[in-house]
Amino acid sequence: MNILVIGSGGREHAIVWKLSKSSKMKKIYCIPGSGAISKIAECVNINILDFEKISDFVLKNNIDLTIVGPELPLSEGIVDYFENKKLKVFGPDKRAAQLESSKVFAKTFMKKYNIPTASFEIFDNFEKALKYVSLNPAVVIKADGLAAGKGVFVCDNIEECEDALKKIMVEKTFGEAGKKVVIEEKLSGAEASLLAFCDGKTIVPLIPAQDHKRINDYDKGPNTGGMGAFAPVNIVNKKDSDEIFNCFLGGISKEKLNYKGIIYVGVMLSKKGPMVLEFNVRFGDPETQAILPLLKTDLADLFYATVNSELNKHKIEWHQGYCVSVVLSSGGYPEKYETGKEIFGLGDIKDAVVFHAGTKYENNKFLTAGGRVLNVSSIDTTLKDAIEKVYNNVRKIKFEGMHYRKDIAIKGLSQ
Ligand code: AMP
Ligand code: GLY
Repeated sequence: MNILVIGSGGREHAIVWKLSKSSKMKKIYCIPGSGAISKIAECVNINILDFEKISDFVLKNNIDLTIVGPELPLSEGIVDYFENKKLKVFGPDKRAAQLESSKVFAKTFMKKYNIPTASFEIFDNFEKALKYVSLNPAVVIKADGLAAGKGVFVCDNIEECEDALKKIMVEKTFGEAGKKVVIEEKLSGAEASLLAFCDGKTIVPLIPAQDHKRINDYDKGPNTGGMGAFAPVNIVNKKDSDEIFNCFLGGISKEKLNYKGIIYVGVMLSKKGPMVLEFNVRFGDPETQAILPLLKTDLADLFYATVNSELNKHKIEWHQGYCVSVVLSSGGYPEKYETGKEIFGLGDIKDAVVFHAGTKYENNKFLTAGGRVLNVSSIDTTLKDAIEKVYNNVRKIKFEGMHYRKDIAIKGLSQ
């Protein structure tokens, strides 16, 4: 079996790494991949939005299935393009991908299908939005479209609301993505990432994970793409998560959404119970780097079952224990940072796996090449031991300006 994975980050490295353990794999390709991924897959430098070139490559190389990592090609319609050419592809089509690419679409869907979520209003006019928040400025303001995780503003007072609305609707920082905003009731509580395989008829959940979005320990500082994750986390009970997934499945079936991929449900455990904050239509990053190391079932089988609508015949098996994944980032991230710093110590890693999020391989050396640079993941029987193990390995790695949170998964010890 030949599989192509699209993407180049730590998430795609983890997917390729897991696939490389499957006895069913003949060849794994990755577009564009990375220096680290090229050690286990053939990487080909094609623009991930050039669907014609990618599909030509797929046909020429007898690739049986394409797995799409990031949201952008999905929201731009890669699945529609591939399915028109009768090529097998893992991910939702463009209409279904609006569950991530439009907050207005997602919230409207949640409301229609009784998925618990914060109450909300939609605005396309700055003055009207400002007038609305002046009544209660403790709200969350979200740009409608994709904004690389930067389009959500949690506000406490009218100044913060006005700043957020100006940024989105007047300065148009996120372009078309800010034509509309969703203004939500502000909730509080612990968050969890509930991921599941979905073939349109059956949902098979993965173990729940928890991300750590802020740059500094104890959730201080600005939001990032995620500074670490652990799994499993048990803050949402199975009955509640099953109910959310069932409502989701009912919704996509009623709306006739073509959904064969991963659905990621971001949940906050508020006083009123679990509330859905967002959908993502793909694997989470860095959650995947904490989930896949615990997966016992063959990942290639699960991908095939999803695209062939046979998930009802599958159960997922997991290794016992916990996985903790810590992100090592460049100094300055999520603001400005430097790249090109040599990474030392990768050869000393013993009982962890290192997924590369932003590195390049040059002259037999790995250099930093992004904000998030590496994910170090370790498994152990108890969460406490997994934390100890992962940090013992993190401390072996060094590069100039290296930053990491020292409290990944600590909250899990008391959950
Ligand atoms: P989203 O992209 O919609 O998941 O929002 C990004 C982050 O903003 C979430 O992970 C939460 O930490 C926070 N957030 C989003 N919506 C709310 C809400 N209604 N109340 C409180 N915090 C929120
Ligand atoms: N971990 C957050 C995301 O993947 O969007």
